[in-house]
Amino acid sequence: MQQPDPATLPLERKASLLSGGDFWSTQPLDEAGVPAVVLTDGPHGIRRQKAGADHLGFHASEPATCFPPAVAVGSSWDAELAARVGEAVGREARALGVGVVLGPGVNIKRSPLCGRNFEYYSEDPLLSGVLGAAFVRGLQAQGVGATVKHFAANNQETDRMRVSADVDERTLREIYLAAFERVVTEARPAAVMAAYNRINGVPASENKWLLTEVLRSEWGFEGAVVSDWGGVGDRVAALAAGLDLQMPGPDAAHDAAIVRAVREGVLDEALVDASVRRVAALADLAVTADPDPAVPAELAVTSMADAAVPAEHHELARELAADCIVLLKNDKSTLPLAEGVRLAVIGEFAADPHFQGGGSSLINATRVDTPLEAIQALDHPVTYAAGFTTGGGADAEALREEAVRAACEAEVAVVFVGLRGETEGSDREHLDLPADQVELVRAVAAVAPRTVVVLSTGGVVSLEGWHDDVDAIVAGWLLGQASGGALADVLSGAVNPSGHLAESIPLRLEDSPSYLTFPGEAGHVRYGEGVMVGYRHYETVGRAVRYPFGHGLSYTTFETAELSVDVTSDDTATVRLRVTNTGERAGKHVVQVYVATTDGRVRRPARELRAFTKVTLRPGESRTVELPLGRRAFAYYDIEGGRWTVAPGAYTVQIGESAARIVAEQTFTLTGDADATPLSLDSAIGDWFAHPVAGPLLQEALMAGATEEQRLQAEANSDLMDMVASIPARQYLHFPGVPVSTDDLTEILEATR
Ligand code: BGC
Repeated sequence: MQQPDPATLPLERKASLLSGGDFWSTQPLDEAGVPAVVLTDGPHGIRRQKAGADHLGFHASEPATCFPPAVAVGSSWDAELAARVGEAVGREARALGVGVVLGPGVNIKRSPLCGRNFEYYSEDPLLSGVLGAAFVRGLQAQGVGATVKHFAANNQETDRMRVSADVDERTLREIYLAAFERVVTEARPAAVMAAYNRINGVPASENKWLLTEVLRSEWGFEGAVVSDWGGVGDRVAALAAGLDLQMPGPDAAHDAAIVRAVREGVLDEALVDASVRRVAALADLAVTADPDPAVPAELAVTSMADAAVPAEHHELARELAADCIVLLKNDKSTLPLAEGVRLAVIGEFAADPHFQGGGSSLINATRVDTPLEAIQALDHPVTYAAGFTTGGGADAEALREEAVRAACEAEVAVVFVGLRGETEGSDREHLDLPADQVELVRAVAAVAPRTVVVLSTGGVVSLEGWHDDVDAIVAGWLLGQASGGALADVLSGAVNPSGHLAESIPLRLEDSPSYLTFPGEAGHVRYGEGVMVGYRHYETVGRAVRYPFGHGLSYTTFETAELSVDVTSDDTATVRLRVTNTGERAGKHVVQVYVATTDGRVRRPARELRAFTKVTLRPGESRTVELPLGRRAFAYYDIEGGRWTVAPGAYTVQIGESAARIVAEQTFTLTGDADATPLSLDSAIGDWFAHPVAGPLLQEALMAGATEEQRLQAEANSDLMDMVASIPARQYLHFPGVPVSTDDLTEILEATR
């Protein structure tokens, strides 16, 4: 039987569908055959709460695999890896009856202090967008919807539900919206989650420009816009702006407000109908007790009790995590660990790992590997000392002394340090590791023949004060439940490290571009650094960092050669290069393609990442890599013209081992766009003179009636032009002696059209 169109139901029923049925699901519309669909976090595992509901983790969730969080995936620079995380999370979502996963988060790491950086990929929008889109593709291939979040400019936790991110449109488009745009246009997620914060004074959930003009009209988004949990202040304004579903629910007062607004003629019922259809369409993702016939049999697990899934997924979590680890420093080839060396494994994090952050993405892991056990399983004599405790109450000096004794006996000390308590809802106040951990590292490094430091942190920490004391540093971020095995794989050399920094590590917090404005004051945070975020700032102003964006060492070596760039149209090009594994181990290499230009009307960053790929190479193997650069790789957003613009001029493609170390480059010219900014009475008089049609006509009008002598004098004084060039035409007319009127200019304008 054909079900009625949900939009033909009574207004009250329709309004009720627009707020949740409970904390984690939509309301069913039985009379229209629309079932409830479960939406839940995500995104690096499934947090399915069955008994009780909250988003603070008071009620435990069903066990699920905790895959590497976004901070780690970002460092993999590997779209296939991100897609595999998405696929696996999708399989578990189906098993746990979840139709829509609340992720990925593709907000930009504007400040290293943002408390949710562990849930985001990068400071760069291309890296964030490519990985986010790959995750969505992997997830949705399992028949589970993705919710890209938090749209948009949600780059801090301080005052997150009220603060206004004050950002100019170029910066929004180039930095803060770009990853969302890529995910929406390339991977078509089922849903977009509106952020809590305001943007230029307007709450994201009530922002029509963002939710309707940009998202739907420009990007063609056809899915549902969902609120962040509790993120709707004015339900009618939110609906009018394009926010379809308010979560959680039910919310009788807001449903009634919608009904009232329609009856009073304040809200067009057609908007209600459109939102109802979009929410009803989400219900196609509802997971029923029966396996979905569209899902291949081997994927259609119906219960997490199906033991094969957690076991396989744990192994997968280990494999994926290893490729996210970044080897920051490796002096004297300290790593990989030489066969049989005596090890002192030191630090509480070795026995009690920090592998995920807190808040809404907290996963009840199916099992947890510790680095200590994984290292003990290798072929080394191992002693362990806690060295410090993050819990307090112990004798810090005694713990340190015990660790120093262990280090004295060892050939290599591996010290596991990090942060705890990284969570949604608050930002960090500084970048430092706890002082007792720094003291421990220094004390161990002073006695151990070799010292390796392994960091477990959801974001960047300062390496100053101890960096030069140690031989090797491994950034282990938060690696998910199999972090222990993954770290052991990289330390032992079973896996060649291939991660690269997705965010710069500054020397001082004060050097970071948002330092003076983060996290804002009086309800506003001004994004005064504009597009100069992360490495864009450091490279443009020449500020040294401890480790640049894109940095990451390996146990083998790679060489880049034969770079060539083919210009394929007025505004596109193709980059070709050859990469060779010149070392003795198999490994993965990240090709980083940056574009640099100084042409155009706006200040451009020194270079910007415009393409990347990760290639696997055996020792001695070479591969030719070809990467297309589309128009957007060269464009900036022209606020005045309201469009993306490719300035005619010189562009340089740079191949980097990081944003700071360029190993090959080539410069070429692009025809770009004709300057299409139309002249107006407000254009500067210099622009009028420069215009091919208006210029000569204006010149003629100004000189009409002038004597020969006056003409010669005007020519002789042509450098006066510099002084008047910036005067708007309509004001120039009013200087004494200017013999043209508004009508004359209007006539000239006509001639330019
Ligand atoms: C977070 C979202 C999350 C939601 C549901 C909010 O606090 O900002 O990312 O999906 O809660 O748990």
